[in-house]
This record gives sequence, structure tokens and C-alpha cells, in this order.
Amino acid sequence: MTDRIRLDGRVAVVTGAAGVIGTAAIKLLAERGARIVAVDRRQADLAAAIKELPASAEALAIAADVTSEDEVADYVRTAVDRFGTIDAFYNNAGIEGDIKPIPQYSLESFRKVLDVNVVGVFLGMKHVLPVMLKQNKGSIINTASIAGLMGSPHIAVYSASKHAVIGLTKSAAWECTGTGVRVNCVCPGLIDSRMLSTIFQGRNGGNAPMPIEKMVDRIPARRLGQASEVASIVAFLASDEASYVSGSAYTVDGGRTAA
Ligand SMILES: NC(=O)c1ccc[n+]([C@@H]2O[C@H](COP(=O)([O-])OP(=O)(O)OC[C@H]3O[C@@H](n4cnc5c(N)ncnc54)[C@H](O)[C@@H]3O)[C@@H](O)[C@H]2O)c1
Repeated sequence: MTDRIRLDGRVAVVTGAAGVIGTAAIKLLAERGARIVAVDRRQADLAAAIKELPASAEALAIAADVTSEDEVADYVRTAVDRFGTIDAFYNNAGIEGDIKPIPQYSLESFRKVLDVNVVGVFLGMKHVLPVMLKQNKGSIINTASIAGLMGSPHIAVYSASKHAVIGLTKSAAWECTGTGVRVNCVCPGLIDSRMLSTIFQGRNGGNAPMPIEKMVDRIPARRLGQASEVASIVAFLASDEASYVSGSAYTVDGGRTAA
């Protein structure tokens, strides 16, 4: 199957675009023909990520904080002003927060994780949905996690935030009843990334994370996932190939949650 999923001319807005998964997503979406609006609060890394796109790609980088309603409204307005529409929205920015058991977790850190992972996702949908509902067409993909499907030690707050993302996704899908707008989320498992190393290091008291062979012990695929493998599902959900898919939480976890 070569390039069955094409997104030629589609406008895709991606948040967290300077991160590991976001960068893989803008790259794949651009390769499939989409015009990209890449959003992240880290301007220099965003610029570096944009440089990696195919020379033919049309891309716009916007530095914004997804927890600020004004900045979210601005990136949505800028995307529409520049490209006329938003066809796909990958609402992906997120943080892992502190890696600590609940009694040691500060309220401040708790609120920060919820602010980025839940409020940020909510604000993105709040401002993108009107654009998509007006045109009666569009695909929103939020990033949850397998931590949104099960409990996980020392990342209770992160896990709670990702459970919330799944709830927001399913409710938004219902709110789009009878329209051409679909809302889904992806639930990545253990992806080879900075965030994964940080979590495993935190669980190990700041020492080196456990060896990969041990990490993959309970993964049927017996390996970590790659960011590009998450991006593939995002491209699918963004495309018309997923025309009957809404309200779903797609695991990309090598079978971890089946185990
Ligand atoms: N890496 C994994 O193993 C894994 C697994 C499951 C889910 N996820 C989720 O996937 C998403 C991407 O993770 P990643 O591994 O690429 O992490 P990452 O840290 O590499 O990327 C996250 C990006 O989000 C940006 N960001 C954070 N807060 C922001 C804010 N307030 N405003 C704007 N941008 C902000 C960061 O600058 C960063 O570029 C996250 O939602 C994460 O929770 C990751």
C-alpha cells in the first residue's frame, strides 16, 4: 500500500509540534500533502522542526502557549487567515509533570499538568470546533495515552489528565452528532522518546531508567514504539479513510493494554 492516505491541500494544525511525536506528525502530514500550521511554546525548536519538512511543504510556525485562551484563539485565527480553513487538528501538546507518588506531589504541579494536558486540549477544541462546524467537515485528534486507560505508579496526575482527554474526546464526538466533524484520540504506549526516559528515570529515583529489555517485558511487540508509528494513526484519522471513525481512543502501544 503506497501512499493510500493522501491529505493533499488539507490544512492541519498541530500543537506540541516541536516535540518528538509532534515533529513526526508534521513531517508525515506534510509528506502526505497537508499544509501545516505548527504550534508550540518552544520557538527555536519549532523552527528546527519546520526545517525538517519536505522542501515543497507549505508550513507556518506559531509560538503559543496552549493554556492561554488568547494565544489559542490567535493561532486558530492566524491559521484560518493564512490558509482559509482547518481540516485536521492534532491537539497534542502535553507534559508528563513530576514523577512522584501522590503524597509527595505538590498541588502546584498537579494544577500545572491539568492546565496543559486538559485545559490546553479543551481550549484547542473550543476554538477549532466552530471553524469545523461552520464548514461541516473536519477531524480532531487529541493525544491521550495508555495512561488514560489504566493506572500507573508515580504518574497518577498525568494518568488522570489523560483519562480526562478521553472523556473530552468522547463527549466532543457526541456534540458533533449529525455533522461532518469527527473527534478521536490516540493513546500512545511506550514511545522511544525523552518523555518516556524522564518517566522511567523518575520512577527509579532519578537514576538511569531500567534497561529497555525490562521495559518491553509486558509489551507483546517486545519493543518500544516510534513516534512515526503514532503519526501514522494521526494521518489515518485525519483522512477520509477514517470517515466512519469518531469518538474512538486508538491505542498505538504494541499490544501493551491487551497484555
Ligand atoms: N512519549 C511517549 O511515550 C508518550 C506516550 C503517550 C502519550 N504521549 C503524549 O504525546 C504527546 C507528545 O509527547 P512527546 O513525547 O512528543 O513529548 P515532548 O515533550 O517531546 O513534546 C511535547 C511538546 O509539547 C509542548 N508543550 C508543552 N506544554 C505546552 C504549552 N503549554 N503550550 C504549547 N506547547 C507546549 C512542548 O514544548 C513540547 O514540544 C503528549 O501529549 C504526551 O503526553 C507521549
